[in-house]
Amino acid sequence: MFPEGSDFGDTGALESIWTDQKGFGKASQRLVDASGELVTVSQSGDMKAIGRAVGAVGGACKNCHDNYRASN
Ligand code: HEC
Repeated sequence: MFPEGSDFGDTGALESIWTDQKGFGKASQRLVDASGELVTVSQSGDMKAIGRAVGAVGGACKNCHDNYRASN
């Protein structure tokens, strides 16, 4: 009735999220920080700084996906 792993469903989230919660928390925080920075510089109108901040947000997405998201 309840085969092993059946509680997991169809997900691209890796086990490492739960076995390495500290690292996952850090990766989440990195996105929070990068997003905050983007909000700050977006008000400056400085396109160069905004471009850099957007890049940092993208890097934070990728950083976490590389480590905690199954590639499919
Ligand atoms: C702290 C970790 C983390 C960060 C940061 C992160 N993601 Fe993800 N993301 C995941 C995980 C884990 C999955 C896989 C979830 C699943 O399939 O259940 C995922 C899945 C996705 C998916 C696919 C969703 C789907 O239904 O298949 C998209 C799109 C995505 N992320 C976009 C982003 C974008 C854009 C950012 C940055 C703004 C970002 N993510 C930042 C962890 C993260």
